[in-house]
Amino acid sequence: MKVMLVGSNGQLGSDLVKVLRDEELIPLTHQGIDVCEPVGVRATLRRYQPEVLINTAAYHKVDECEVNAERAFAVNTLGVRNLALACREEGCVLVHLSTDYVFDGRKGAAYVETDLPNPINVYGLSKLAGEYFLRYLLEHYFIVRTSGLFGVAGSSGKGGNFVELMLRLAREGRPIRVVNDQVLSPTYTLNLAHQIKALVQTEHYGLYHATSHGVCSWYQFAAKIFELAGLCPSLAPQTTAESGARATRPAYSELEKAALQRIGLDRMQHWEDGLAAYMEARQAVHPEER
Ligand SMILES: NC(=O)c1ccc[n+]([C@@H]2O[C@H](COP(=O)([O-])OP(=O)(O)OC[C@H]3O[C@@H](n4cnc5c(N)ncnc54)[C@H](OP(=O)(O)O)[C@@H]3O)[C@@H](O)[C@H]2O)c1
Repeated sequence: MKVMLVGSNGQLGSDLVKVLRDEELIPLTHQGIDVCEPVGVRATLRRYQPEVLINTAAYHKVDECEVNAERAFAVNTLGVRNLALACREEGCVLVHLSTDYVFDGRKGAAYVETDLPNPINVYGLSKLAGEYFLRYLLEHYFIVRTSGLFGVAGSSGKGGNFVELMLRLAREGRPIRVVNDQVLSPTYTLNLAHQIKALVQTEHYGLYHATSHGVCSWYQFAAKIFELAGLCPSLAPQTTAESGARATRPAYSELEKAALQRIGLDRMQHWEDGLAAYMEARQAVHPEER
């Protein structure tokens, strides 16, 4: 398979590079391609002629998106349109990452792929519009909605990830307060990368939910991180209202993996297993913290 990977040094992108090492891979960083530049996008696809293009690029600083909607839509919506148009021209399958934040979180149960999205922040709105552009322009695509990513490369867009943030705060000895009224399925990027590889080897095109199994609040997630790291910092729960975040976030965003299960291809782990695997893998990067 000839695969072009956009965002190859990002959190998920770095793990896709590892997982796809036996494929004919064209890894592109932001320097190698800017999804916001339609002429460059077309030229790059024409030059490399990939069979599959995986897009992990996004502007996903959720609070910043509220005040920079132009950039959110440029990257997350029009950037996806640029990729989809070029894929259509070159007959390439587009794999695109989306988010649990397309939902409002008010269902009170896991969302399935056929549930009607209803974003409650600019980031979610821009990602949903990107999904719709893709579906409108292409027949052969995979949209993969995921949630709360953590990977050893750390998110370049967010400057790290939640696990590393918690460990740093604990090392600094600061009291830590984490929201306890937003429930999600934190997902290890290496697990997701394996899932994406399994999916793109099929022709079961369409929309998929691919998050860890099980749910927790951010506070419960933090507590588990400290338990696995053998740390006992001062950790207390807080409400979303107390956190003062600019963007509204879904209160309960569990995604049921109904579409993956229908084709017998659900390879996602429980979030606690993903976290344990991550804690093990990060030791290779941070051996001083053993
Ligand atoms: N992180 C999460 O918790 C989370 C949750 C749900 C869904 N998702 C989705 O999952 C995907 C991957 O997330 P991630 O955490 O792996 O992101 P990430 O670590 O920030 O990686 C994104 C990559 O895309 C590149 N990029 C950004 N803007 C670009 C542009 N205009 N053109 C080309 N490349 C660009 C970044 O490069 P630079 O840093 O050099 O700009 C980086 O290499 C995204 O689609 C995101 O919306 C993420």
